[in-house]
Amino acid sequence: MSKIAVAVFNRKGGVGKTTIAVILAQIALIRRNKVLAIDLDPSRNFSDALGFLKNYFNESLRIKDTLEDDDAGASEEWIVIDCPPSLSDASKNAIDFADIVVVPVRPDFFSLSNLGVMYQTAEKFGKEKAQLPLVKVGYDNSVMTKIANQLISERDYPVAEDLPLHKHIPYNITSGRIWSTGLMARSRQPFERLYEKIIKAVDKLNEGVFDINEVWTDRKEDETNDENV
Ligand SMILES: Nc1ncnc2c1ncn2[C@@H]1O[C@H](COP(=O)(O)OP(=O)(O)OP(=O)(O)O)[C@@H](O)[C@H]1O
Ligand SMILES: [Mg+2]
Repeated sequence: MSKIAVAVFNRKGGVGKTTIAVILAQIALIRRNKVLAIDLDPSRNFSDALGFLKNYFNESLRIKDTLEDDDAGASEEWIVIDCPPSLSDASKNAIDFADIVVVPVRPDFFSLSNLGVMYQTAEKFGKEKAQLPLVKVGYDNSVMTKIANQLISERDYPVAEDLPLHKHIPYNITSGRIWSTGLMARSRQPFERLYEKIIKAVDKLNEGVFDINEVWTDRKEDETNDENV
């Protein structure tokens, strides 16, 4: 497996960036990888959430609050970067540095309205659009979801995964529990699938394949479950 640097970014606040960053870091740790977690948001939610888990994972987990050039040579298998809700210099550096930038979007207009400038910024760093896939968070049967889906397909944004909302997740993340506590196996699947797809995408990038859209679209049918919020 290649080394993986993933950033989680959206200029919109409260869309689930930190939650996804925590979950990806935890899945990597559970699967016995070493993880370097970089928290670029001064609110420190990512460091605080992972700080709870430091006791379980000890030296497998390193947490810091700046991204430096040297980090490209880090010994960890996974680098997970949580960005602030702004296209600050720190976020731009993260977009430049990461192999894949996961972009969570809620079914609301403001989650989606700022993405053009993000893709332009990424393009300046030589990044393909497919390296910045959206992750839908809490898309349901509402009219707003329908409008958001329409916007996503009109603008031809890549979509990596659909993540359901779960009532356990905010509790687990803020109380230092493993994110998946209380979730049934099939409810964990979309999160694990996202993790697997990121590995596959980075493998392809390392092979020199930049059209990685098929990695994201290779998805099974959405699960239904009874744990949704
Ligand atoms: N899959 C999920 N299921 C249930 N709740 C979720 C999920 N993802 C995020 N949340 C909740 O939504 C809220 C916002 O999530 P989070 O803090 O991850 O967003 P953020 O984009 O990092 O916000 P900010 O821009 O302020 O840093 C939190 O209360 C979080 O617990
Ligand atoms: Mg956050």
